[in-house]
Amino acid sequence: GDWELRIVCMGAGYVGGPTMAVIAKKCPRIRVAVVDISTSQIDAWNSKDLPIYEPGLQEVVEETRGKNLFFSVDIDAEVAAADLIFVSVNTPTKLTGIGAGRAANVKNCELCARKIAEVSTSSKIVVEKSTVPVRTADAVRRVLATNDKGIKFQVLSNPEFLAEGTAIDDLMDPGRVLIGGEQTPDGLAAIEKLVKVYAHWVPRERILTTNLWSSELSKLVANAFLAQRVSSINSISALCEATDADVSEVARAIGSDHRIGSKFLQASVGFGGSCFQKDILNLVYLCESFGLEEVAEYWNQVIKMNDYQKSRFSSLIVSRMFNTVTGKRIAIFGFAFKKDTGDTRETASVFVCRNLLEERARLHVFDPKVTREQMMLEFEYSTGTTEKTVPGLNELVITAECPYEAAKGAHAIAILTEWDEFKNYDYQRIYDSMAKPAFIFDGRNILDQAKLGQIGFEHYAIGKPRRKEW
Ligand code: NAI
Repeated sequence: GDWELRIVCMGAGYVGGPTMAVIAKKCPRIRVAVVDISTSQIDAWNSKDLPIYEPGLQEVVEETRGKNLFFSVDIDAEVAAADLIFVSVNTPTKLTGIGAGRAANVKNCELCARKIAEVSTSSKIVVEKSTVPVRTADAVRRVLATNDKGIKFQVLSNPEFLAEGTAIDDLMDPGRVLIGGEQTPDGLAAIEKLVKVYAHWVPRERILTTNLWSSELSKLVANAFLAQRVSSINSISALCEATDADVSEVARAIGSDHRIGSKFLQASVGFGGSCFQKDILNLVYLCESFGLEEVAEYWNQVIKMNDYQKSRFSSLIVSRMFNTVTGKRIAIFGFAFKKDTGDTRETASVFVCRNLLEERARLHVFDPKVTREQMMLEFEYSTGTTEKTVPGLNELVITAECPYEAAKGAHAIAILTEWDEFKNYDYQRIYDSMAKPAFIFDGRNILDQAKLGQIGFEHYAIGKPRRKEW
């Protein structure tokens, strides 16, 4: 066809899929192809059951798919035909080798660069969408230079700031779009080309342009600051419980100061998700490799506080339940790392569950969007929990079809994801079906504690004044 521009995105995951769907919707004259090495992932994008759940995503995909949005495994042909290539592949924390447990693995980015260098016969703009360590663009550029057909490549950094659960809204109306590129005539021209894509729907003043390294670093810093707010309020939640202050009141009071702001001050069992921890570790590793020990240690505390909050919560469950949960049934409400997503990567829930399993509790898990298969994969992947480490794992973890089934006969309920529907259950009915005393531990502060008390629950919520007998 007579396209304004041909875009291809390598990586059809949580970022690539929704981002390209929104570009396709907002730019009907741009041809957008999303490619992946995983055939099953591409098949799912081409089916009725999309591989990821995001509110509003299905509609956007159905509107554009087959018109100007295509999902394909024909990586070579799509890349060869493209003008602009987004690289949106996963960059997980390295598990082994140099920087294990901290550094981000940029192997997939390099493989994409090699593929682009191999199959390209015309000039292209390559856009890093993945979150990468600073100066990755330099490596990408040098790999691209191995192309021997005399082609020019420009490398841009365009980190993604969408949040899972609100990805479509975030992409339709982004607070800002950040584009970094080389500050040379060719670099600036490439930046302008990408600016024009976003300018189809994003006001120009919200499209920030800068140099490559500032752009790459800004993504790591943005996530570090966001996670730091969560760890900061969570640290105060522990103090609130010790002093009879109420963390929600403290958050309200400090959040009214416009210099602090009210968002992201919700105390909880801890942050999760594929990005916060990975990106902070990446930042810490970066600081360490430049000899900035104090800076590294400063940001590392954000992760330490998060680990503390997760283990504090599971320890508290055990201690409140008369110091033993062995053989007790505990209903787990929520396994996703936050509401409105089925994503379980680094979810706080899996760590709390693991700790309870090590105490030999029996878990009845209910999550509106997470399958049993996914839960068991996450147990193994995030915590190394398998039949070997926890004998009988398959019988100790029961996945329930509904919350009432999960809670039936249980000694306790732990709320680990803030799904809206959890607020509206019939807690009287739930209480009546439980073993007594019936405990409820709200790790997300979403339930009405006074009402739970009236029903008869032994209730606990993060950062709330302690019950006198506790
Ligand atoms: P994901 O794991 O959901 O998707 C990555 C996809 O890339 C997978 O489907 C994988 O098969 C594919 N892939 C890997 N190597 C490939 C290759 N050589 N060629 C083609 N496809 C390949 O990852 P997700 O969550 O979309 O993240 C992607 C990047 O975006 C990461 O760097 C992440 O840090 C960053 N990011 C993620 C956000 C999120 O909320 N998930 C938000 C902002 C940035």
